[in-house]
Amino acid sequence: MPRRKTWRRSPRSCTASSERFAAVVARGAKAVVIRDQRGMRAASDGARFDRAYYQRFYLDPRTAVTSRAEMRARARLISAFTEHIGLPVRRVLDAGCGVGLLRTPLLRGLPKAEYVGLETSEYLCQRYGWVQGSLTDWRTSQPFDLVVCYDVLQYLTDREAARAITNLARLCRGVLYMTALTRGDWQRNCDQSRTDRDVHLRTADWYRQRLKRAFRPIGAGFWLRRDAPLTTWELEMA
Ligand SMILES: C[S@@+](CC[C@H](N)C(=O)[O-])C[C@H]1O[C@@H](n2cnc3c(N)ncnc32)[C@H](O)[C@@H]1O
Repeated sequence: MPRRKTWRRSPRSCTASSERFAAVVARGAKAVVIRDQRGMRAASDGARFDRAYYQRFYLDPRTAVTSRAEMRARARLISAFTEHIGLPVRRVLDAGCGVGLLRTPLLRGLPKAEYVGLETSEYLCQRYGWVQGSLTDWRTSQPFDLVVCYDVLQYLTDREAARAITNLARLCRGVLYMTALTRGDWQRNCDQSRTDRDVHLRTADWYRQRLKRAFRPIGAGFWLRRDAPLTTWELEMA
């Protein structure tokens, strides 16, 4: 989970664009020294994602990296985009769904869809009933029309993240919505005081190169499976 930089906050916390714009105008862009990712622990073990983690990054308003309002807006974007592109969504996978902030607003926009939340966190699976498994190797007999993977891959090592991207292509037969905190986000876009820094920072190109093998980039975090029978206008593509 990122959160936009608000000058107060982010696992990924970002500043809202308008706040960021105002702040940059007022202060000038600030250079930031990033922590060397060597020495960061392997981040994808389920035990790390315990009650304290979610309390800190999601539930306590003093330290949370996102809000229900922000996640509602994201879900509206995702459902509107699938409608725009003409993708009928019957099955949606929220891979690394956390406390499930996208579930209700996604289902509101995609009323015919079945929602599956996949999580590595034992704590969350017991509490919310998500399917327990790892994005790196979880399989299903029926692929999903829409796969959402928001703010998860930065918790995986390079090897795990590469495997997860390969697996996303197996799990998704239509549209993938994927973002992860990148090195550039850490330097320029996120609120470092709230964002979880115990992650694996990679370049955006690292992700793009691997995603492009099975998906076409459509912009704004959306990726279209290359063999999906959906038409896009050339200038809509990223
Ligand atoms: C920063 S949270 C994001 C949660 C949710 N996507 C959101 O934005 O509200 C990252 C989540 O990814 C989950 N996660 C980490 N590694 C995973 C893996 N290999 N497979 C599935 N989930 C994983 C963690 O348990 C955690 O809940």
